[in-house]
Amino acid sequence: MKKIILSAILGCGLMGNVLAQGDAEAGKSKAAVCAACHGADGIGTTDAYPNLAGQHADYVVKQLKAFKGGSRVDPVMAPMAANLSEQDMADLGAYFENVGKGGSTDSASAEAGSAPAAPAAPAIVADAAMGKTLYEKGDESRGITACITCHGKDGDSEVLINPNLSNQHPEYIVKQLNNFKEHATSDGEAGRANAAMNQVAANLTEQDIADIGEFLKAPADVKQAAKAKKTVELNHVGDVALGKEKSATCIACHSADGNSMVPMYPKLAGQSEQYLFKQLMDFKKAVDTNNEEGRVDPVMAGMIAPLSENDMQNLAAYFASQKVSPSAAEANELGETLYMSGDAQRGITACVACHGVNGQGMALAGFPVIGQQHVDYLKIQLGKFRDGSRGNDMNSMMRNIAAKLTDEDMEAVAQYMSSLK
Ligand code: HEC
Ligand code: HEC
Ligand code: HEC
Ligand code: HEC
Repeated sequence: MKKIILSAILGCGLMGNVLAQGDAEAGKSKAAVCAACHGADGIGTTDAYPNLAGQHADYVVKQLKAFKGGSRVDPVMAPMAANLSEQDMADLGAYFENVGKGGSTDSASAEAGSAPAAPAAPAIVADAAMGKTLYEKGDESRGITACITCHGKDGDSEVLINPNLSNQHPEYIVKQLNNFKEHATSDGEAGRANAAMNQVAANLTEQDIADIGEFLKAPADVKQAAKAKKTVELNHVGDVALGKEKSATCIACHSADGNSMVPMYPKLAGQSEQYLFKQLMDFKKAVDTNNEEGRVDPVMAGMIAPLSENDMQNLAAYFASQKVSPSAAEANELGETLYMSGDAQRGITACVACHGVNGQGMALAGFPVIGQQHVDYLKIQLGKFRDGSRGNDMNSMMRNIAAKLTDEDMEAVAQYMSSLK
């Protein structure tokens, strides 16, 4: 057994050597879009999002490739990885590997010892001591290799292609073990594929998985940091009342309540505050960089000139707090197909992955609401992403997609998006 593991490690080591050289500084700016889920400091914002802080760069790159290539299936990560180049991946890996070194979670973990146990299925009472034994010794009689051989003492793996399990959400660990197991027990039809892990997880019972999750909780201890963050998600950052005061100059085009009457001008009502704030900052950035960066628009450039960053945050909060007016657009088949399923043959990612089933986007990730938006405005924006005149989308997420859309696609999908609520 030892020899098999060793050769696996050597094989992986070779793979590591051919990876592109990562630049952590470049990775930091590319990671802005990841922060919504994986946290600005690499600590997942909820239990569903894995921590990446301190994770091995090689492992991060390998996973990003797997999400992009489809060998690791996840509807959220697939579109995130689809647009990353090898260099982007290497930069992101370098960034996340180093971000943990600052110890930004230390203060939170110090007081996390008394975190209440997750509500496990009633029949199973997780036992950390059993988990520790299984982790460190395995169970030869059941063919379970000790996790420590590959993941290291207390989950700090010394092999760069094997993930660290310390500093990870226990919920995420349990989910992944179930995914690996599912792959093994479904003849590879579902779940997460990895030869080593499928073999190990196939023999784990639900009780084993709960025990291991419980044992790894202690090294993780990052739960409270994640919980503390969750509470701010939905509150407005800006001041709605101050934003309203500032909005007088916007009324001519966007209306007092943010529901513009002119179909070329976007509705701002009900749009996410994060997204609106980013757009305003991007319009300003274009002015500041002579249209080299940011979002270029001569009309909005004039509008934002007198605004401070605080004003922008308050305006964003005000319009986000308004209710969007209904759209008369109707669903159509071509639009629905593109939106819901994309087009694998033409390499078009389904819009639903980021803009959501109801067109409500994902505020935390910076994905805008497009439901009930004016059809004309949506079409104009798709055209701008296609010809590159709008280039403020992180990692070219929208430009890469729009480049593959025909005029007919745009008409249909814009109608469909506007009909969503
Ligand atoms: C909208 C939320 C979201 C965003 C934004 C996001 N991710 Fe993820 N990410 C996830 C989820 C959910 C998973 C877990 C998937 C699973 O369960 O297999 C994940 C998993 C990962 C993993 C695998 C971690 C592991 O331990 O195996 C890596 C690496 C990763 N993401 C990197 C990134 C990078 C880099 C970005 C930015 C370019 C990014 N993610 C943006 C939600 C997100
Ligand atoms: C022979 C080596 C080996 C053994 C033994 C092993 N693992 Fe793994 N494990 C891996 C590798 C390699 C991966 C990364 C899989 C990939 O690249 O997708 C992994 C991934 C994981 C993940 C997913 C981590 C993430 O960030 O997504 C978990 C959880 C995990 N292992 C837990 C365990 C547990 C618990 C045991 C013991 C019962 C164990 N492993 C035993 C090699 C091993
Ligand atoms: C003279 C008309 C006009 C006025 C006045 C105006 N805007 Fe705009 N606004 C536009 C146009 C046109 C666009 C679309 C620009 C493009 O095509 O990229 C836009 C776009 C926006 C966007 C991006 C929306 C999205 O969905 O991406 C925001 C945010 C915005 N405006 C906020 C404001 C605020 C805040 C004010 C007041 C301080 C304001 N606007 C005043 C015409 C105007
Ligand atoms: C990988 C995630 C992702 C996918 C998939 C995606 N989008 Fe987007 N979309 C974004 C982001 C992010 C933005 C905002 C970019 C920015 O910061 O300005 C955006 C913006 C837009 C806008 C402009 C909205 C506004 O208010 O200005 C339109 C229109 C749009 N997307 C349509 C689509 C369509 C149609 C599809 C599918 C064919 C699609 N998107 C697929 C992430 C995505």
